[in-house]
Amino acid sequence: MNVINIAVMGYGTVGSGVVEVIRTNGARINQRIGEGLNIKYVLDLRDFPGDPVQEKIVHDFETIINDEEIKIVVEVMGGIEPAYTFVKRSLQAGKSVATSNKALVAKHGAELLSIAKEQNINFLFEASVGGGIPIIRPLNSSLTADEIEEITGILNGTTNYMLTKMFYEGADYETVLKEAQANGYAERNPEADVEGYDACRKIAILSSLISGQQVDFEDIYCEGITAITVEDMKYAKAMGTTIKLLASSKRHGNRLYAIVAPCMLYPEHPLYNVNGVFNSIFVHGNVLGDAMFYGSGAGKLPTASAVVADVVDAAKHLNRNIMTMWDQEKLKLEDKAAAKRRFFIRMKGDADKMMSELKYSFGEIEIIHAEGLEGEFGFVTPVMMEGDYDTRAKGYKEQILHMIRIEDQTE
Ligand code: HSE
Repeated sequence: MNVINIAVMGYGTVGSGVVEVIRTNGARINQRIGEGLNIKYVLDLRDFPGDPVQEKIVHDFETIINDEEIKIVVEVMGGIEPAYTFVKRSLQAGKSVATSNKALVAKHGAELLSIAKEQNINFLFEASVGGGIPIIRPLNSSLTADEIEEITGILNGTTNYMLTKMFYEGADYETVLKEAQANGYAERNPEADVEGYDACRKIAILSSLISGQQVDFEDIYCEGITAITVEDMKYAKAMGTTIKLLASSKRHGNRLYAIVAPCMLYPEHPLYNVNGVFNSIFVHGNVLGDAMFYGSGAGKLPTASAVVADVVDAAKHLNRNIMTMWDQEKLKLEDKAAAKRRFFIRMKGDADKMMSELKYSFGEIEIIHAEGLEGEFGFVTPVMMEGDYDTRAKGYKEQILHMIRIEDQTE
């Protein structure tokens, strides 16, 4: 059996997972490739005395780039630099790359794909969105007959875990954040999770793939879960809804409307029952109709499983580029103000006294009372453009305690 040598850059959570997956399932993986996969180097700044990987540890990237036997490089270091430089140089040297690094893919995916294409090799990044859930490959291959009209996902396990605990157990934000960090799913800087940045990079990648153009995550309106309270959850319950951090991209003519924000969902919504650290991605195609992808969106082995699947794909296509449409030309996103939806508002004051004024301002509203909450009430607006909502809400700056968007399932 011929041997295909690979190098793993980064021996952290995902890197050690990659080594473990290849060690555990190596025989089957080799059968599937028809050749033997061999991890020749593991790049890390640290040493791991006593770990069987120690004999493969190298500290200098030049060892990898200068070794012509290395055909595939796994990048699981995270962050932009030095990952970007290492990945670019690997591709330019004719080595395929598999990565789980969403920051790298969101920022430089288009350029790295074009280098891979020129070199007739591959840049693969299944693990960068949804961890172990297959979503990149389905979008690129199984769903290529479709015009994807919507992708809406729960793309961050940490925040979904937190919101689930707050909703079902009435736990408060600080307590669940500590728990989420302790269970190892959170980013090194938990701000990336709770402020929605992690989900934002992931929906930027998916938006780029469905449009075939560059979608910059900086252009996507991003609101995290830091303002969600136990009181909000009480209103959600009174309305028969739950609150989820949704990352969504919807086609509006030639543009995409992309947003990351906590939303209220009714039980009819396909993402309503996605709880705990699980991720799920709802896709609507113009000929396919609806499809859902569900599974472990984070964690060592699920993420490593997706990385190793990319390594297998790269090994099967050593000198053939698997086409991925993602141009460097930037896509102009639809203005958030033009998107239509209903809004839930928590307001200080007395609902009876304010009813007629609010009806005048917002139209046919529905008042919501939550158990045990005094001196405030909630209401739901009719469907309106977000820009119109903003204009109308300006007159109530002092009274509005919180606004949460409602995600109705569209036909
Ligand atoms: N912090 C991320 C999450 C890890 O919680 O989903 C996977 O990208």
